[in-house]
Formats: sequence, structure tokens, C-alpha cells
Amino acid sequence: MGLKFNKKQQYAWNILTTSGKTRILFDGGSRSGKTALIVEYLVRRALQYPGSRQLAARKCRSHAKTSLWEDTIKGYLRKFIPAHLFRYNESELSIIFSNSSRIIIGGLDDADRTEKILGNEYITVYLNEATQLSYQSMQMAITRLSQNAFDRKKRKAVPKLVMDCNPRGPRHWLHFVGVRHIDPESGNVLPDKEKWARVNFSAYDNKENLPPEYLISLESLPQIMKERMLSGVWRDNEGAVYDEFDEDTHVIPPFPIPEEWQKIRAIDFGYTNAFVCLWGAIDHDGRLYIYRELYKSRERTRVLAQEIKTLSGKEKYMTTVADHDAQERAELEEAGIITKGADKKVIMGIQAVKNRLAKQENGKCGIYFFNDLKNLLSEIYDYKWLPADSSRNAKEEPLKLNDHAMDALRYMVMALEKKEKSSTFRSITTSIHTDGRWK
Ligand SMILES: Nc1ncnc2c1ncn2[C@@H]1O[C@H](COP(=O)(O)OP(=O)(O)O)[C@@H](O)[C@H]1O
Ligand SMILES: [Mg+2]
Repeated sequence: MGLKFNKKQQYAWNILTTSGKTRILFDGGSRSGKTALIVEYLVRRALQYPGSRQLAARKCRSHAKTSLWEDTIKGYLRKFIPAHLFRYNESELSIIFSNSSRIIIGGLDDADRTEKILGNEYITVYLNEATQLSYQSMQMAITRLSQNAFDRKKRKAVPKLVMDCNPRGPRHWLHFVGVRHIDPESGNVLPDKEKWARVNFSAYDNKENLPPEYLISLESLPQIMKERMLSGVWRDNEGAVYDEFDEDTHVIPPFPIPEEWQKIRAIDFGYTNAFVCLWGAIDHDGRLYIYRELYKSRERTRVLAQEIKTLSGKEKYMTTVADHDAQERAELEEAGIITKGADKKVIMGIQAVKNRLAKQENGKCGIYFFNDLKNLLSEIYDYKWLPADSSRNAKEEPLKLNDHAMDALRYMVMALEKKEKSSTFRSITTSIHTDGRWK
């Protein structure tokens, strides 16, 4: 008993079970059936080799717990494996089978836990969403593939590394290793090239198991995201203004914004072009979360003002910044939305947004976006630099096309920067007044 494989999964299964192929990458579109297949493989390996250990790991333990453990593995076992054949150890996130085999679910984000996980030997290591890991983590995991286990006919288990991921840019280490079989550090062909195999999936491959709306929503994504998430192509965001933008890092599921976080709105006017209002909130570490958008063309400002008020509910804002159009600002004001003129310096604004996008040493960034902001996210992908020509250097001017949410975003970030500066100034002046030496 098990999954009824789609065609691509059947092909991929043949590779998984080829004994000469021991380093395997399934890369491809979102929900294309990669993880489901690998989970079945882990369970079958556990049942085939008594006393064997299989590791299923991804970068964060919390993500491993929700996506691998809760959503996928438990669902599979419930559906296909008789309950008396296994039990869960919830605190360890492991499954113990009646033949003493185990599947251990883990995260590689915490040094102590990683040491414990990698202190064990396995016959199967599965790295889920492997692009989020480092090349070193993968190499380390390979060294743990050293357990000896035998099936009932005394055949020794061939140790296997299996990875899956959605494609990223072609300069990613995993594209070198898993797709091209090249060492990303030396640029040489991998010495164990023959052991490697790769299967590229598209979401269409798993059509029979996906709701039709899901494929339609992938088809309507911005081009680069569509190629990656639907077709499974490794693509760079070349020429993008916000080239540090990364959906794995910056795009997060919505959560209720705590009431005490400071909030801000930013508005870019438009009638033929889109009118955009963005809502942002700042956590205790100063990180900005863009949590709501209003994005509409061909609507009167008066009507939009009411929509903004409805969406805002009882929230309070430290400020609302807007583009400079006097007439429009007056109309908002009539409806009770008081705005400040935005700082419209383009390159400085872009730089300020880029600074927030950059990862800090602790791995966190200064800005995050809720994943339901379709228009804003679509614009980030489309926001490109004009190419250099006789009158202009590279990266001097963005292409002015579908950049309305991008404008509102700059206004917001610039307004926050100004606030930060003035509050630093205030705290310096306070210390001048309180510390005698400075008088
Ligand atoms: N052979 C199958 N039979 C039934 N459902 C499947 C099958 N393969 C995948 N699915 C379902 O399709 C969805 C996406 O599969 P998943 O393996 O999570 O995709 P990926 O890992 O490529 O993002 C999941 O809901 C999964 O349960
Ligand atoms: Mg998956």
C-alpha cells in the first residue's frame, strides 16, 4: 500500500531505488509531488531494513515540525501504515517502527541539536528544501551515512542522500552540485559524479493531485516566480533593483499584528495607474512588516479614502505619508486621513529599502512582507534598473513601469528613516542635558 504515483514520480522512484545512484536531487515546482514521494521512500526503507535510521531534516526545526512532521509524514502514516506498526515520540520528533527502525525529523539551525542529530549514523538522509542549507551542512550530513543495516535476505542497505528544493538562481551551490555535478568551491567535476542523479519536476507533473485553482494561481505569478514555482526552472532575478529580495527570507505568512507595535501608512496616488496604500508595523527590534495593501486603478480618491478607513479599523498610526498631489491629499484630509508629504528621493529611497532587505549577522532582516500582498510582491519582481546607455550609468534609474507599490514602499521606509534619525538626535540631546560633562 502506498501512493499511486504520477508518471514523474514513477520515473523518480526508479532512480531512488537504483543502487548506483546514492546522491539524489529532486528540484522543481511548488507542490509538484517531490516531498510526498520521498516520505514514502523513507517509510519503505524503515520497513525494509530493521533497526535502520532515516533522517529527515531542513533548516529550521520549527518548519520541520510543521511541514514535514505534522503535515506530511503523519498524514502518510495515518493513511497507509497500520497503526500497530509504529509509534510517535513527540518530544524527539521521531517515529519508531515495530522493527526498531526510526525516522527522525530535525532542524539544522541549532548547534547543540545538530550535533546530537549528526552524532547518529543513518542509512538515509533526506534534506528538505535543501537550498536553504549551506554546502557545508550537506557535506556534513553525507558523513553520517554510515549505518550498517540489512534486510531480511541479509542484503546490506545502500546509504542514500536525497534532497529536494524549489529552484533558485543558477549560481546557487545546489545548482552546481545537484544539477551540474560540479564542486562549487573548486569548479571541478565532482569526483563521485556517477553517484549523482537529478529529477526536475514541474507542478503540472502533479496535476492529478492538485486543485485546479492552485495551478491557475501559479500561472498568474510574476514571470520569474512562475518559472521557478510552476515550471521548476533555475532563474536569476537579473537586473532587479531589489536583487537581495528573497521569497524564502522576506515573505512570511500573515500573523495578527500586536496592538502596541507602531504603525505607519504610505500612499501613492493614481487613477489610470494604480492607487496604492501600504500598511506597515514595527516590532520591538525595529523590523518593519508590510502587512496590508490597497491597490486599485480607476477609482475616485474619495471612495478610496473610505476603503482605507474601513481597512484601518481602530488602528492608530504614527504617520501617513503620501505623494505630493495637493488636490488628492486635500480629499483624503476631508475624509479624516491626514497625510505628510513623502520624501521622494528615488535613489536614496531605494538604498534605504535595500538596507532593510539585507541580512544582518543574526540572519534577520529589517523588512518582511506578508505573503498575501499579491500586487506588492509582483512589483518587487518586476522592478528593474534601466540599462546603461550614453546618458546614464547602470543602476542609476529604475524602469518606471508597474512601480506604484514600489513608490509607496520607498515613501514608508524613508519616513521611518527620518523618524529614526530624529529620535537618535533626541536621545543624544537628552544625554547632553543629563550628563554634566557634555554641557
Ligand atoms: N502520488 C500522489 N497521490 C496523491 N497525492 C499526492 C501524490 N503526490 C503528491 N500528492 C499531494 O500533492 C501535494 C503536493 O505534493 P508535495 O510532495 O508536497 O509537493 P512538493 O514537495 O513538490 O512541493 C500534497 O498535498 C501531496 O499530498
Ligand atoms: Mg516539498
